[in-house]
Amino acid sequence: MSTTVQTPPSRGLASKALRWSGMLWFIVAAVGQTGFIGFIVAFYGVRTVTGDFSGWNDKPLIDGYIEGDDTGNLIFAAHVLLAAVVTLGGLMQLLPAIRRRLPGLHRWTGRTFLVIAGFMALSGIWLALVRGTYLSVISNVAILIDALLILVFAGFAWRNAIKRRFEPHRIWAMRTFMVVSGVWFLRVGLMGWVIVNQGPAGLTKDMSGPIDSLMTFGSYLIPLTLLELYFAVQRSRGGALKIFAALVVVAAAAYTALGVVGTVAFMWGPCL
Ligand code: HEM
Repeated sequence: MSTTVQTPPSRGLASKALRWSGMLWFIVAAVGQTGFIGFIVAFYGVRTVTGDFSGWNDKPLIDGYIEGDDTGNLIFAAHVLLAAVVTLGGLMQLLPAIRRRLPGLHRWTGRTFLVIAGFMALSGIWLALVRGTYLSVISNVAILIDALLILVFAGFAWRNAIKRRFEPHRIWAMRTFMVVSGVWFLRVGLMGWVIVNQGPAGLTKDMSGPIDSLMTFGSYLIPLTLLELYFAVQRSRGGALKIFAALVVVAAAAYTALGVVGTVAFMWGPCL
């Protein structure tokens, strides 16, 4: 007697729909994050390499270049330039082709991603708390929690990789990707909101209102929740649940796409 468990066709279809929705979201995110990397290189990279440090302030910032603040300027430069590297590293880690065909490269980009993610969190904490770069206390608390999550999640991803526990490693690495992308999600979330509402609708200048808090805390809590939903549904046997989750992920991909268009067209494009 065969012990093979047959998957009902509808459930197979539901699993496929879930996988495809995840891929669709990843493609949208990859396009948007490539735009983010392009902006960082073209704006901060070019100005830094040519010694035009005060040119960092050619775009709206809280504190970019401050004359006489050599330490602050150095940490700001390292933070924004390594933002391009960590974003590229995160994307490369998620490409299945690299994981499967170039495991050596996957290990090295993985180590680089986790170390730089740690640096991004620590330098971000320094900018926020020591340099005092923040708009409001509540928005500062939101980004500081993101920084702590980056440090904790990256630690778990690293530990599981060293112990060769690859399934938990994959899960913690995905969680790390989501919280490291929080800064990018925030920009995408804000621009998506502005486009949907045809204006800033409830956003305030110092990011202290309820909609601002939805955006700042939501920039990592919403993607993390969706990721956990994706994992839970992937493990479950319910076809209807998978279809529902796939629809949620497609809606998230559509909102992300709107936000990506907004960041490129209205946030970064005009600065170049
Ligand atoms: C780990 C992923 C992160 C990335 C990719 C990233 C990226 C960036 C970029 C591109 C900028 C330049 C601002 C702009 O042009 O809009 C920036 C500035 C800044 N970042 Fe981060 N960041 C990350 C994490 C953090 C964290 C965790 C914190 C705080 C705890 C933080 C605090 C800051 C601060 C205070 C500034 C200066 C903002 C200003 O002066 O307007 N960053 N970051």
